[in-house]
Amino acid sequence: MSFSYPILPGGHLLAIEGLEAPHIAALLDLAESYALLNRQGKTQRDLLKGRTLINLFFEDSTRTRTSFEIAGKRLGADIVNMSVSTSSVNKGETLLDTASTLNAMNTDILVVRHAQSGAPALLAQKVQAAVINAGDGTHEHPTQALLDALTIRRHKPDLRGLIVAICGDITHSRVARSNIHCLNAMGAEVRLVAPPTLLPADVTRLGVQVFHDMTKGLAGADVVMMLRLQKERMSGGQVPSAREFFRFFGLDREKLAYAKPDAIVMHPGPMNRGVEIDSSIADDPVRSVIGEQVEMGVALRMAVLDVLARGLRRNV
Ligand code: NCD
Repeated sequence: MSFSYPILPGGHLLAIEGLEAPHIAALLDLAESYALLNRQGKTQRDLLKGRTLINLFFEDSTRTRTSFEIAGKRLGADIVNMSVSTSSVNKGETLLDTASTLNAMNTDILVVRHAQSGAPALLAQKVQAAVINAGDGTHEHPTQALLDALTIRRHKPDLRGLIVAICGDITHSRVARSNIHCLNAMGAEVRLVAPPTLLPADVTRLGVQVFHDMTKGLAGADVVMMLRLQKERMSGGQVPSAREFFRFFGLDREKLAYAKPDAIVMHPGPMNRGVEIDSSIADDPVRSVIGEQVEMGVALRMAVLDVLARGLRRNV
């Protein structure tokens, strides 16, 4: 595939905010072709041969790190997983020292997850590598939003006018923020459904509708996206108890009945079963696309690596 404009301006993927519909659509089209190749088992390619990809994770991750690793390997890259517990960051090395180490090692692609919003953008200014934000604080998680859009598109081909209800802990969710930007850019109608304590202060500027009642927020929705209650980022008092939360905001069959009969259910994982989502919904083979989100994660990340590899300055 060839493109007449930069799909990822700047040569990094730091946020969805700032990307336009044609950029996003081009990435999704490319990812769709990788999804097809993956299903046919025909994914061995040489695109990233001789390239070094470092997964630099300052926060835990299962899905995201593994899926970048698989995506990179399928494209032929050399992959190094640097987790903080084994790196010298624990010995007091600053983010900028880490950047110069990575430069000296001729890293081509750097995938970064960090608890601080903006850390990947700071690194992008200091390293020669192309940087991918794999989740920074409560800011953004761009590849998650893109893989979500890809998954939605496979079930509802036109994103324009789709009603997408994002429910639960919005305040702490970088997934929600990236999805809001992505879905707005693609012309979907975004609803946020949460108790007032779990909505960010700037919510009115996000171009969304806000609901505090699941039955109203889910009414007529095409997509129901549940989010994890991020207890580790809470200072206390934001939710009464897991049981209480489930009663009002947990997705069960009764609440899902307010959405369209063919509405799909999503969750970025990891799930708190019985807190934000009931197992009978999470595991429902007809309504839940949670497994497909994980599958699309690999294809989408291959597409992002593919696009970034075209712009790398270092010759191999
Ligand atoms: C999310 C994350 O880490 O931002 N998970 C993920 O990447 N699949 C959401 C979460 O932690 O709840």
